[in-house]
Amino acid sequence: MKILVIGSGGREHALVWKLAQSKLATKLYCAPGNPGIAQLAECVPIAPTDIPKLADFVQLQCIGLTVVGPEAPLCAGIADYFKARRLRIFGPSQAGAQLEGSKVFSKKFFLKHGVPTGRAEIFTDANAARACVRKWGAPVVVKADGLAAGKGVIVAQTVAEAEQAIADIMEKKVFGAAGDQLIVEECLVGEEASVMALTDGKCFRILAAAQDHKRIGDNDTGPNTGGMGAYSPTPALDKVPPEQIRNIFERTLAGLQTDGIDYRGVLYAGIMLTKDHGPMLLEYNCRFGDPETQVVLPRMDFDLAEACRATADGKLGEMTLAWKPEAAVCVVLASGGYPGDYAKGKVISVLDDAAKLPGVTVFHAGTKAGADGAIVTDGGRVLGVTALGDGIAGAVARAYEAVARIHFDGMQYRRDIAGRALRKR
Ligand code: AMP
Ligand code: GLY
Repeated sequence: MKILVIGSGGREHALVWKLAQSKLATKLYCAPGNPGIAQLAECVPIAPTDIPKLADFVQLQCIGLTVVGPEAPLCAGIADYFKARRLRIFGPSQAGAQLEGSKVFSKKFFLKHGVPTGRAEIFTDANAARACVRKWGAPVVVKADGLAAGKGVIVAQTVAEAEQAIADIMEKKVFGAAGDQLIVEECLVGEEASVMALTDGKCFRILAAAQDHKRIGDNDTGPNTGGMGAYSPTPALDKVPPEQIRNIFERTLAGLQTDGIDYRGVLYAGIMLTKDHGPMLLEYNCRFGDPETQVVLPRMDFDLAEACRATADGKLGEMTLAWKPEAAVCVVLASGGYPGDYAKGKVISVLDDAAKLPGVTVFHAGTKAGADGAIVTDGGRVLGVTALGDGIAGAVARAYEAVARIHFDGMQYRRDIAGRALRKR
């Protein structure tokens, strides 16, 4: 079976890397891919949102499975379009992708179907929203409805900060139409875990849990990023009864069925482990997490292509998913200045040497082929250095050993990836 992966980041490199190990895979393509992916798959220059062109390519090459990485094509309806053309695709319908695409849709969905989540009110009027935050007091969370490049959630420590967020979102329209509606939400306190599950709309299979590090600086300081590293498993979940996590997915799946929403793909739950109320759902993403994928996939002891095909075909019930006992850790190497402005085109050195360490894989995120066969930086998050090891401590040691062999101008990374987990153990 030929397989196409859509996307070009570290998550997609991990997907291609794992799918390449499948006994089902005869040839891999990636649109548009990156230089790391190009070592494993044929990269085709089609944009992830050019849906008709992707479908034409799939039809022409007789590709048997398409796996979607990013949310944009899912929110634009790629799964519905492929289904209409009878092309097999792993990813939810446009209606299902609203669980990520619209925070108002998803919040209403959680409340309607009894999914444990924070108290919230929805507003289309800035004055009414301001009155609400004054009544509730701080800390309080303000969320723009639509996709806002990860910047649409403001955890306000003061009422003034919350009012500023409301003005920015609704009156200044800093996120455009994504701010036509907003949510004022109770601020939940606890540790966050990323729990992904595959679902074919009939049943679900929960994947090994992960945690990511969102802030740029050590000890969770500085601005938010797309994710500076991740690890799996997550000691923070050790004491949480598994049925409390299952309950979140059970209610979600039942809700999808009740509402007649076709969902065949990944449900990625951002869960706050609260002291008083147990696990509470913060949000869903309709895709694999980045960089969580880079640590969850290396731990899979099953054929990912088989699982994705079963998910797309509504046959996930036939699959059992097994996991490797080793832990995985991913350290993201980012460009100097990220998440603010940063330079591109810096030459990356000693990549291959690092990847030859046992258990280590270097996933490309923001890279490009430069002159004379060099690989150069081409994004904020450049590489995801991932290691499998004996426990979290073993994986951390290996990952940083590999990091020490990689260099580019301005390279920055966190020194404390998985530190939270090590302290706990
Ligand atoms: P989201 O885009 O919904 O994932 O939110 C981004 C981040 O904001 C989450 O990962 C949390 O760290 C934080 N967050 C979202 N909702 C809440 C909440 N109700 N209470 C506290 N923090 C939150
Ligand atoms: N790691 C956060 C995300 O994928 O959205």
